[in-house]
Amino acid sequence: MSREIWNDRCIISPSLICLDLCNLEQQVRMVEASGIGMLHVDILDGHFSPSMPLGLDTVKQLRKKTDLELEAHVMTTAPQYFVDELLDCGVSQIVFHIETADHVDGLLNYIHGRGVRAGVALKPATSLRTLDYVLDKCDAVLLMLINPGFAQCAGEAQVLYADRKIRELRKMIDERGLNTKIILDGRVSPENIQTYGAGTANIFVAGSTCIRKDDLTGSLKKVNDLAGRLNASPVR
Ligand code: DX5
Ligand code: ZN
Repeated sequence: MSREIWNDRCIISPSLICLDLCNLEQQVRMVEASGIGMLHVDILDGHFSPSMPLGLDTVKQLRKKTDLELEAHVMTTAPQYFVDELLDCGVSQIVFHIETADHVDGLLNYIHGRGVRAGVALKPATSLRTLDYVLDKCDAVLLMLINPGFAQCAGEAQVLYADRKIRELRKMIDERGLNTKIILDGRVSPENIQTYGAGTANIFVAGSTCIRKDDLTGSLKKVNDLAGRLNASPVR
């Protein structure tokens, strides 16, 4: 497996669905060349939100071709089937949407029981209050900063309350003395990484806002170098 990066303060996780899906192996080699050690794997069912960019068999094949840590974001109406399949794929972490799971606590236990990191994802308007009883057992909480299904709408910006929500979650985690990672997803920019990467949020999903298709390695290296500097800076 790749080096242990889960304890880094600031981690870049390129979004697989934002890469050239017809040349995935080549694209993954470019991610590796940028020095990044993680990939964000969105699994959509076409029902939770209206797109289905990536199939589970593709993830299974990809698992055999790279040692990158795979962190999965299950964006589906009924998460159990997809969670089972991803557990069989050999991913390192699974977050599912708290809005879609019938048994949030039970599903977190189930994933942990298979020795995999587990957490929940929240749509922009979902309150942090929904985390109250389960936060302590979440290895990660993913905050969606744009609405699911609209990633292809170039005009959609992060929700206006993104900053407040990110800082309130940081406070909840710190007040409980937890090591829960905060994942930011949706229109994540180098400025976001600079603002939140020194101890506020931990995993930054790099999509079309960070990635230049004509210079994948270079654009990813740039944000990964930024993350490296933030990891090396003193704790605030
Ligand atoms: C959704 C995905 C992508 C990704 C897109 O869960 O993970 O939407 O964030 O990034 P941007 O918004 O920068 O294209
Ligand atoms: Zn995602």
